[in-house]
Amino acid sequence: MQISDYDRGMTSGRLLIVSNRLPVAASMTPDGVRLTPSSGGLATGLRPWHEQSAGLWIGWPGEGSWCSGEQRALLDRELDTRALVPVHLSPDQVDRFYHGFANRVLWPLFHYLIDRVPVNATGWKSYQEANEAFAEAVSAHYRPGDTIWVHDYQLLLLPMLLRERLPRARIGFFLHIPFPASEVFRILPWRHEILHGMLGADLLGFHTHAYLRHFVASLLHVDGLEVDFDRVRVGEREARLGTFPMGVDASEFERIAREPDVQAEAEAIRSDAGDRRILLGIDRLDYTKGIPRRLQAIKRLLVDDPELADRIRYIQVAVPSRGKMDSYQKFRRQVEESVGEINGAHGTLRSTPVHYMHQAVSLRQLVALYCAADVMLVTPLRDGMNLVSKEFVASRVDNDGVLILSEFAGASAELDGALVVNPYDVGAIAANIRRALAMAPSERHARMKGLRQRVVEHDLGNWAKTFLDDLALAGSAEPAFPASAPEAALLTSLLAAARGAADVRLLLDYDGTLVPIARSPGLAAPDAELLALLRALAALPQTHVEIVSGRPREILEAWFDDLPIALWAEHGFWYRRAPGEAWEAAAVLRPEWLKRVLPILEQFTASTPGAQIEIKSASVAWHYRGARREFGARQAHELRMLLGDALSNQPLEVLEGKKVIEIRLRGVSKARVIYEMETHALANAMVIAIGDDRTDEELFRALPASSITIAVGARPTRAKFRVDDHRAVRQLLRALVGDSDDTPLLPGQSALGEVSA
Ligand code: G6P
Repeated sequence: MQISDYDRGMTSGRLLIVSNRLPVAASMTPDGVRLTPSSGGLATGLRPWHEQSAGLWIGWPGEGSWCSGEQRALLDRELDTRALVPVHLSPDQVDRFYHGFANRVLWPLFHYLIDRVPVNATGWKSYQEANEAFAEAVSAHYRPGDTIWVHDYQLLLLPMLLRERLPRARIGFFLHIPFPASEVFRILPWRHEILHGMLGADLLGFHTHAYLRHFVASLLHVDGLEVDFDRVRVGEREARLGTFPMGVDASEFERIAREPDVQAEAEAIRSDAGDRRILLGIDRLDYTKGIPRRLQAIKRLLVDDPELADRIRYIQVAVPSRGKMDSYQKFRRQVEESVGEINGAHGTLRSTPVHYMHQAVSLRQLVALYCAADVMLVTPLRDGMNLVSKEFVASRVDNDGVLILSEFAGASAELDGALVVNPYDVGAIAANIRRALAMAPSERHARMKGLRQRVVEHDLGNWAKTFLDDLALAGSAEPAFPASAPEAALLTSLLAAARGAADVRLLLDYDGTLVPIARSPGLAAPDAELLALLRALAALPQTHVEIVSGRPREILEAWFDDLPIALWAEHGFWYRRAPGEAWEAAAVLRPEWLKRVLPILEQFTASTPGAQIEIKSASVAWHYRGARREFGARQAHELRMLLGDALSNQPLEVLEGKKVIEIRLRGVSKARVIYEMETHALANAMVIAIGDDRTDEELFRALPASSITIAVGARPTRAKFRVDDHRAVRQLLRALVGDSDDTPLLPGQSALGEVSA
């Protein structure tokens, strides 16, 4: 897929990428401005996408940009030629917002390293101010029609700040790091503000289903917000949520890996190692990456088998990162001491087992290292995704090499074929290194082939396109919930529509709509006036009256038994077409639900080789019999948890069978009423639906756009109209039968009471 597809017709506007750091960091040299590539998954991942799109990237150009007026102008011009827009942050701002709050509080907390969060966490005010500064910069460059894509934990407040300034803008947000379990997230004193800030986006994306689940749980526990499958209501708008596992520019890594000089460099690394097998670690030097335990695992191998010292070479590239922070400086000392200790104790006259480099390496050197490695060690304690693991796979055009991958990296949810390890378990890392070194070439090739297929198919372009396509659908210039029309307008359109229709379907909720909500459900029996009104409505020509209620069958039957109307009990689970007919139960899983569940199952199927989907009439099943045992079971567990959360307020239930996860109807929603109507009947009918609560919203959503939907009471609704209470509803219904001061609607009908046969 071409990255530039985005600019060809998917949207008329530009794409504005917004992240804390620009993809280049500036420094001032005597010769002028120097721009070097920034490190980290976000910058590396999005850089090629930006280079091929016609949009802007807005962000901070790094510490090196602190310079005088003339140099600043030079820098800004240089950035401008690359479509980069600087947000200039002062040293004080960087200290408090970036080091202070983003990296000292959010970063460790979101990575579950709670004891690294300072007791006296500071910087919140600066975090707010910096997010405001970004909001100003983005609004200054925004043009109507543009799409804004905000990235990562440094800018969690930005989506809402932008929404306040640009209510109609299409705004997406993607989190590149884990979203922690809600029990951890809600430790944050500013948890409400952060969730609120994020919800300014039209679409919020996460790398894995687990992070999405955690976010959904936080919305519920922290703010009492219920997510309706993949969307959450925020005032008059709605925000969508989704999982988008980020990929790498696989074809570019492949291309570089095939270059003769890169192959030669890989060969040189290999021949320098002689007959030693190469173990490789490449990480930003960050305490989340699990380097100390990885080193301990190497040490344990060497202690257990001293001869290994001459048979392995462990190359660790530690890319400098956040070096101004005490915690990172301390961490660097700790790593370097460990390296020194291992080399001191286990080095021989012929070799030092650990080759450690604290420096950035060029892309070509990086790919050469990937190609030279026998075993790649990616063992972070937590990692949002970890693109290094995918870069390694993409570079292995020879289908060789073994990947050892932490189960706490987002990538482990996709990369079947890696040796998955608990990064806290030093013994397990050592055992997996041994297993990798002993692995037969045929197994290595089979595993790498599977890994490559996944990484190549789900590459960077695929990730960005999927997110932006979904954002194009989620973002809407109009509020999702239109304000209600005044009552006069309601009456006019209602009457006009009903007058011309050949078939009128009146779908009426009961409690709260036709009668007031009673203190006890038993006290809500229909009064004589209501019964007469319903009878009169049912007697109108070409008019069907249907009560759509959550009440049990027995009650509805007792109340309305002899009325010539249809009854729907238990929110549409039971249906009685006419008096004297038997009740029918819903049994079929309707396309509406399937449409929502299938994309999730398809995603899991795509990332779980051997899994498949079976669609039955009353359920849909995800079979993982054909998947590799351990991976299949892990994926099934994740799928179950995800569906359990996503479907908790849906009429579906998730069952676990032998190597199968099944989703089937629990009850059914009021939307069933619509599915039961034959398509042509629905197309020709004028549907008027009236209801007062959430369950009625499901019906409103399923109805054709031409229907007249009326919400009773004040609440956010997708109905077109709103009336105050059951009295207003009855007044409307009386107007339909002509018993009002208005002109009778349907010629030939007389006043209420006299129409009944
Ligand atoms: C991770 C984060 C990015 C960050 C990068 C480098 O990949 O998700 O947002 O930019 O690390 O960290 P730095 O603090 O240097 O920007």
